[in-house]
Amino acid sequence: MALLLFVQIVLFSLIARAPNLDAWGKEGHYMVCKIAEQYLTAEASELVTELLPADAGGDLASVCSWADEVRFRFRWSAPLHYANTPGVCNFNYARDCHNSHGEKDMCVVGAINNYTAQLQTYGDPSSPYDLSESLMFLAHFMGDVHQPLHVGFADDEGGNTIIVHWYRRKTNLHHVWDVNIIETAMKDFYNNDLNTMIEAINMNITDEWSDEVNQWETCRGESITCPNKYASESIQLACDYAYKDVDQDSTLEDDYFFSRYPIVEKRIAQAGMRLATLLNGLFSSKSAAKNI
Ligand SMILES: *[C@@H]1O[C@H](CO)[C@@H](O)[C@H](O)[C@H]1NC(C)=O
Ligand SMILES: *[C@@H]1O[C@H](CO)[C@@H](O)[C@H](O)[C@H]1NC(C)=O
Ligand SMILES: [Zn+2]
Repeated sequence: MALLLFVQIVLFSLIARAPNLDAWGKEGHYMVCKIAEQYLTAEASELVTELLPADAGGDLASVCSWADEVRFRFRWSAPLHYANTPGVCNFNYARDCHNSHGEKDMCVVGAINNYTAQLQTYGDPSSPYDLSESLMFLAHFMGDVHQPLHVGFADDEGGNTIIVHWYRRKTNLHHVWDVNIIETAMKDFYNNDLNTMIEAINMNITDEWSDEVNQWETCRGESITCPNKYASESIQLACDYAYKDVDQDSTLEDDYFFSRYPIVEKRIAQAGMRLATLLNGLFSSKSAAKNI
């Protein structure tokens, strides 16, 4: 019995440590959620803490990669991490938001709408949803939709089948955008320290980008969030930067890195600010309603 338990624990930790095939790496998601946390209103922050599982220790960022850990257990959730276009540089919900069986809404944009709607039932005792899971999914997918190659071409699976060398290491283009650009930036500029990198991004949010931030957060009409817009931006950036000048077997090094890492840093900032705005919108109206 004890041996079986031991084997299970070892297996579980191996699985938990398996590389992310299809998401900003752990660092990317962590930064998105850390940035968001700083811009939550007191009310939103309180309700987020209330919804988090106990082992999150009140820290949203600590469960920001949970959706990647359960993608094998909840197989239906795997297509919710991305969307693909048929080789074109624009996103069209009706055309592109489905899983491989053609089931509608099963893509990252549909998922953001879905978990936003679920969280809108907060405070309603008849809500059938596990809102702790809804929150963890939402925080994760808001990150994914900002990774340009999470809205890439179907033919190359968002760059997964494009084998490249990142400096001297063999990898694929999708992984370069999930992980390698962030890792190299951390090593070259931030002393390998995630918090230093987050601080640098925060600094730009308050200085360099302050004029744009309002616009990042604005959606057309009354919409509380607009994942269609985020996905459209991503596929455009995928065409203009991620896929540009890359072929099967390309070697990507300084030229590519120095022209692309600013895109990655800005997408992380946008994802964080938009997640905060969304959670603030969701939870301030709810707590206002609760107080009536
Ligand atoms: C919406 O959420 C439910 C519960 O997690 C899930 O079963 C369903 O597949 C989700 N659909 C989309 C489009 O995200
Ligand atoms: C901050 O903005 C400057 C100017 O656009 C840019 O060069 C730099 O890479 C940005 N740094 C971060 C951490 O985003
Ligand atoms: Zn993901």
